[in-house]
Amino acid sequence: MSNIKNLDLQNIPRHVAFIMDGNGRWAKQKGQHRLFGHAAGVESVKSVIQTARELGISYLTLYAFSTENWARPNEEVEGLMQLLVEAIANEVDEMHANGVRLLTIGDIQGLPGNCRDSLRAAMSRTKDNTDLTLVLALNYSARQEILSAVVSAHELMKDNKMEINELNEDIFASLLQTKDIPDPELLIRTSGECRISNFLLWQLSYTELLFTDTHWPDFRRDAFIAALADFQKRERRFGLVSEQIQTTK
Ligand code: IPE
Ligand code: IPE
Ligand code: MG
Repeated sequence: MSNIKNLDLQNIPRHVAFIMDGNGRWAKQKGQHRLFGHAAGVESVKSVIQTARELGISYLTLYAFSTENWARPNEEVEGLMQLLVEAIANEVDEMHANGVRLLTIGDIQGLPGNCRDSLRAAMSRTKDNTDLTLVLALNYSARQEILSAVVSAHELMKDNKMEINELNEDIFASLLQTKDIPDPELLIRTSGECRISNFLLWQLSYTELLFTDTHWPDFRRDAFIAALADFQKRERRFGLVSEQIQTTK
């Protein structure tokens, strides 16, 4: 099933989001330190980006660090931040050459200075690229994102730029950090856990959810193609009945 020939190239999602989970368990199985798993996970990120480009996917969002992850042991948090800086330094040239635009969601201000600086430089360098938008969720909390949008809506009203009865889903979505990014059609979480872990709570309202037992460091091109084949078998009904979907096809 993991052959690209089995995919309907007319039905490739525009936006795929990933909860990259299982680096720690993957490393433990190999008798290695958790950071060894995170480093291997970077290779999966590269593979997924490459596959997305090959298939013409326009947006990838990767959950790389949640606000909850700060509570992990210091050594792991520091290692993850270091890995982020190294990955950007190693990959930004190729990303740029391949037309990848880097964006972030989450509280970037709360990251260590060197991470912030390298992210900002990479974002500004790649800002005009149009082939693939790579969104890294870093120091991200969906609840926090929604609360900030509520505060922004309140400010618009206070400044007489919006009436309360004008607030609708589109305007609210435009106050989220994901403004200008279409909602994901597909969310993939690796490593067996079936939960959302405070990721994109607004944006995932009608997303297809796919949970796979594969640990993130083992999730490469074949696994991505298999996940897309699974997605393509699903009928997205958006509240309608099946017959209505069939007639619009
Ligand atoms: C995901 O892998 C990476 C991050 C959360 C940064 P984990 O580190 O959560 O791996 P497990 O879940 O402990 O195996
Ligand atoms: C979710 O993974 C966050 C990221 C992938 C960055 P976790 O491993 O932190 O999730 P929980 O805590 O097990 O739900
Ligand atoms: Mg985990």
